[in-house]
Amino acid sequence: MSPLYATPEEAYAAYREAPQTFFERYHEDHFDERSLISPDWTWYETKYHYNLVENGIIDILGQGATSIEVGDVLDVGSGTGHWIDFYAKIMEARSVTGVDFSELASQALSRRYEAIDSIRVERADITVRRTGFDASFDLINAIGVMFHIVDDRLWRQALENFAGYLRPGGTVIVGGDFGDEGEELGVMRRTRSLAQWEETLASLGLETCGLKRFDWAKGGINPGLKNNLLAFRHRT
Ligand SMILES: C[S@@+](CC[C@H](N)C(=O)[O-])C[C@H]1O[C@@H](n2cnc3c(N)ncnc32)[C@H](O)[C@@H]1O
Repeated sequence: MSPLYATPEEAYAAYREAPQTFFERYHEDHFDERSLISPDWTWYETKYHYNLVENGIIDILGQGATSIEVGDVLDVGSGTGHWIDFYAKIMEARSVTGVDFSELASQALSRRYEAIDSIRVERADITVRRTGFDASFDLINAIGVMFHIVDDRLWRQALENFAGYLRPGGTVIVGGDFGDEGEELGVMRRTRSLAQWEETLASLGLETCGLKRFDWAKGGINPGLKNNLLAFRHRT
């Protein structure tokens, strides 16, 4: 995403200064599913990514269940709205709330769904606690978002917020790497190891309940980042 800035160093500093502004600038020219992931991807690669992750989510939610009811869903970092559509139309959610801290994204999605009572979209930063969301959701979905929170303190705060928003028995599904090592990848990504995820979740009274690893070379823009899935819930 650095072509919007004169140098990688400028992009790196701008992202740490104001990630929201950075995304808003990006969304001005890249507000479709393909280029939101990477301007270098083809549409078939984009489709492959979304198909893979959709099937992974269905697999995780279907484990040990005869049917899946997702209930009230919170989709964080909604971007162009793929996951809002997926949960509303395919998974037949009772309601879907989408949040994105980009004004352009949140306004475009609010307009798109304004006639549908069961879908609402708000502009919000997931690293800031919104008490009105407490114990309101059966499922929280965060695909392609958590590794964009490069500050470890804010990353943990987002997880603490999710714990507060999740109803007992609910599930959080996160897309990310979950490898042996965490690392900074380019300007606007920081992965955390599976061990760091598990340790942080345990400190928040949460536990993992699903892990899906995908065997696909183009897991992300940066070599090494795979869009795997981790699911967690309140410790039982
Ligand atoms: C790579 S896009 C993924 C969009 C969508 N989840 C998908 O998979 O198609 C990341 C989105 O997360 C949003 N985002 C990043 N950090 C955020 C934060 N702290 N709070 C709210 N939204 C955030 C960005 O504005 C962007 O729209």
